[in-house]
Amino acid sequence: MRQEVNFGKMIHGGDYNPEQWLDMPEILEKDIEYFKKAKINEVSLGIFAWAKLEPEEGVFDFDWMEKIIDRLYENGISTMLATPSGARPKWMADKYPEVLRVAPDRTRNLFGARHNHCYTSPVYREKVRIINKKLAEKFGNHPGVIAWHLSNEYGGECHCPLCQEAFREWLKEKYQTIDRLNKAWATTFWSHTYNSFDQIESPSPRGEMAVHGLNLDWKRFVTDRTVDFVKHEIQAIRDGGSDKPTTINMMYDFQGLNYHKFADIIDIVSWDNYPQWHKKEEYLTAMDDGMQHDIMRSIQKRPFLLMECCPGATNWQPVSKLKRPGMLHAASMQAIAHGSDSIQYFQLRKSRGSSEKFHGAVIDHYGGDDTRTFGEVTQVGETLEKLQEMTGSHTPAKVAVVFDWESRWALEDAQGPRNAGMHYKETVEKSYYAFRRLGLDVDMIDMEQELDGYQVVAAPMLYMFRAGFEQKVRAFVEKGGTFVLTYWSGIVDETDLCFLGGTPAGLMDVMGLRSTEIDALYDGESNVGVPCQGNHLHMTESYRCTNLCDLVKASTAEVLMTYGEDFYEGMPALTCNRFGKGRAYYICADFEQEFYNELFRKVTAEAGVKRAVTHIPCGVDITTRESGQAVYLIVQNFNRKPVEISLPVEEYPVWYGSYDGTIGKWETVILKKEK
Ligand code: GLA
Ligand code: ZN
Repeated sequence: MRQEVNFGKMIHGGDYNPEQWLDMPEILEKDIEYFKKAKINEVSLGIFAWAKLEPEEGVFDFDWMEKIIDRLYENGISTMLATPSGARPKWMADKYPEVLRVAPDRTRNLFGARHNHCYTSPVYREKVRIINKKLAEKFGNHPGVIAWHLSNEYGGECHCPLCQEAFREWLKEKYQTIDRLNKAWATTFWSHTYNSFDQIESPSPRGEMAVHGLNLDWKRFVTDRTVDFVKHEIQAIRDGGSDKPTTINMMYDFQGLNYHKFADIIDIVSWDNYPQWHKKEEYLTAMDDGMQHDIMRSIQKRPFLLMECCPGATNWQPVSKLKRPGMLHAASMQAIAHGSDSIQYFQLRKSRGSSEKFHGAVIDHYGGDDTRTFGEVTQVGETLEKLQEMTGSHTPAKVAVVFDWESRWALEDAQGPRNAGMHYKETVEKSYYAFRRLGLDVDMIDMEQELDGYQVVAAPMLYMFRAGFEQKVRAFVEKGGTFVLTYWSGIVDETDLCFLGGTPAGLMDVMGLRSTEIDALYDGESNVGVPCQGNHLHMTESYRCTNLCDLVKASTAEVLMTYGEDFYEGMPALTCNRFGKGRAYYICADFEQEFYNELFRKVTAEAGVKRAVTHIPCGVDITTRESGQAVYLIVQNFNRKPVEISLPVEEYPVWYGSYDGTIGKWETVILKKEK
């Protein structure tokens, strides 16, 4: 993060593509009238507009854009200006085929689609530099331009010769000698030893896919290349004389890039959110979505932007279901509740042709403002105006879940112990949901982030321990923190080599145990965890566990639960070790959600984590945002019917929404305590 971004208002807007309507000026006039009606105060402009901005090589036409930015500004509407690198003009692809991506099978893509560029190509970089700089010179200090929307949804990889060469350079810098690389990747296995860096190629289904260290480094390289490309884009903007904040729009559960690596490069995180509402009970979707919001917020531990969401139904999901009345508002409030300073849509006006012509938009082909969607968007706009003072407020999380991209890459690439599904994400969700059921704000951190300041940190299935992580955990527990680790943790180092001498590596004394073997269960099989008489945490129930059962040997750890079945009946299933001033819990098996709910309720209470609301009905989402002046408690009911809930209204008076002991279906209530 370069600069702390606060727009001073909740942003309400979205992707706007007037370049598709330049031959219909009356449409553009209407748009502005409608935007004002719907309380839209921002547009994201120029995403994919390269062909209109530079119709021929070196021939630039920014006049149309200038008129639009001016008109919007005169009408109180700001612009987040995009760099156009998300899609390139045909002339460029024809003249310089190297700008197009090469797939893992080494075939070069034809012109078409989008997000189809080589991020190494000097030609592409130069073309991007020129246009970004020109855009910055022209608009970078326009009072209507408030931020830079870099490209669009960076992602994907390129296997062209230029990228191969860059990969080799990257490896050379990392390992220095080929010997070190061979050791780190364990290439003696299957005779895959390299004699020199020049021999190395990116992973390919036609070639090498079995060297896990190679796969992992390739993924890291792809992230680094993309980070480098983003830096290049930003530099061009700065060279053009603009120091407006930058953002990139990230994606739901996207594993192609380690988003944490962008934290220090861009000024504010934004993301695009397209949940499949009404596919299951809304509160389940809300829980899943809440975690994504928290992942995004935790990257910079700052408010983020919801860069895209759909005001109606998308057109690319298997089934494009309409949002039921009230859902857009509830979903929007959830984004704000979890730390967003904006609600932005894809898109403001629905395109007429091509692949997104049926994608939901604020203004549809009919062209009027008397649609249901327009009404719901307006309602969101009105609410955001009321919530303006919350802009820039932080989320004071006292608990965290470690959710690490690199460890996940390695875990999911490894073979065994269950190729039928390790269920990493679901396992992380169990800890997250258990915290959230208690109304606790949760940071979703990676291994590079600090543990200081949290009272409880959960690290589910942390397969890889990146260098230095064990020391962080040790210091955290020593100083009084509570750490909850699970089975299949601390197995490999940063290059995916198995630790020797016992696991969880480096933490066996902190956890007070050693993992000796792990049993994988067939689908449909289960075991049971049974509480031990007199366990200090007063765990009282038995719980089923599936998939994976770790057989640990406790040294100093107290055994709180044991397995109830199979040859390991009586062996530890849940343990706790006192270490320094803190406690280290170890969950041995893949337990059901209720186990996590009971455990985390008791562990957080023991750790003294404060909760504003003690009895939270299922389906109610409670979050906090805090500014220098006030604490806001945001309470949302995602159930299909009203719920009764007792809220601390004496301490936190109702500030937004209506509350009389119950909260209506999909309603939001915000309580506010002045400081
Ligand atoms: C993505 C893209 C947008 C648009 C939407 C459609 O998030 O960034 O350009 O294609 O999906 O839902
Ligand atoms: Zn390339």
